[in-house]
Amino acid sequence: MKIAIAGAGYIAAIHAGAIKNNGGEVTAVIEKFADKRAEFARRFRIQQQYESVEEALAAFTFDALVIGTPNFLHAPQALAALHTGLAVMVEKPMAMNSAECREMAEASQVSGAPLMVAHCWRFDQDVLWLKEQLPRLGKIIRTKGYGVHTNWGPGGWFTQKQLAGGGALADMGIHAIDTARCLLGDPRPASVFARIGTFYKDFDVDDTGVIIVNWDNGATSYIESGWWQPHCDGLEAATQLYGESGFGQLFPTLLEIPNPQTKQAEVVKAGFEFPRQEHCPQSMYDAQMSYFMQCVERRATPLPGWQEGLLNMKIVEAAYESSRTGKVVDIEL
Ligand SMILES: NC(=O)c1ccc[n+]([C@@H]2O[C@H](COP(=O)([O-])OP(=O)(O)OC[C@H]3O[C@@H](n4cnc5c(N)ncnc54)[C@H](O)[C@@H]3O)[C@@H](O)[C@H]2O)c1
Repeated sequence: MKIAIAGAGYIAAIHAGAIKNNGGEVTAVIEKFADKRAEFARRFRIQQQYESVEEALAAFTFDALVIGTPNFLHAPQALAALHTGLAVMVEKPMAMNSAECREMAEASQVSGAPLMVAHCWRFDQDVLWLKEQLPRLGKIIRTKGYGVHTNWGPGGWFTQKQLAGGGALADMGIHAIDTARCLLGDPRPASVFARIGTFYKDFDVDDTGVIIVNWDNGATSYIESGWWQPHCDGLEAATQLYGESGFGQLFPTLLEIPNPQTKQAEVVKAGFEFPRQEHCPQSMYDAQMSYFMQCVERRATPLPGWQEGLLNMKIVEAAYESSRTGKVVDIEL
């Protein structure tokens, strides 16, 4: 399978590795800056280099486009490819706002080109194990999770609203939102209450957020987002599930199933390495890419697809509005 990658930064390198690990070919790199383009092409032995997606589309034929560029480029680059019927995997957040997400969804539906949104935690072994255990937990009443960087945060375009759309919530919180939703069985969001602000650095996006999402299945999710936080309950991203008949959590990944007779909990450990050597391992991205490549081959609709990207974006938008107005925001779909 011939795949082009837009961007030659941090995540593009992980995706290039994942394509190769899955037997695919990174046929082209699309990157604005010539030096980065050349270095990336050399590192991953890529034959073709282009400055823009339009240029690549005009020059040659490939099977799919993977987008790992700054958020403001997600929609225009995806639209250019989707309009020609080319399959796309776009990084999270899907776009700058839900209007852009809808445009991308429409382009995918009209051309029939698969559109996947890289909500990578859905492919993590610990998340998948916890999802398999859900029947033991009964109905999930609430979840608690976070996407947080302690004592650091990104710089550059990530911290400019015009280029990123949002800050720690759009960058890290969205992982926790999607993981909670995935573990709840993908309910629809009903309403959101949030307090979001910028307290640790001087930029025009948020570095701190507390978000409460009410889902249409009655569950509630409490989510923290942050950069430069002085503390986090674990490493970068995790989620806990509080069910009617038990508790489950990620990292360390385990269940606690109370025994009503003894009033003690039976602890069921997943048995995965903890702490991991890497919190975001290449294996997670390899599994994600393997799934995307299968969808491309079968022209199948991916999950996470545009619906997940759009719903997560609606939650992010509602959270910003709630924080601005101080009110609970109902989500219209
Ligand atoms: N899923 C994850 O775990 C994960 C991790 C990191 C980043 N991301 C997402 O991936 C995306 C990229 O993040 P990153 O950390 O790789 O950023 P980055 O800054 O390291 O890389 C972005 C690249 O895009 C290039 N670029 C800028 N303008 C361009 C243009 N017009 N055309 C082509 N390339 C252009 C930059 O020069 C840079 O090489 C973001 O949306 C981010 O949210 C996801």
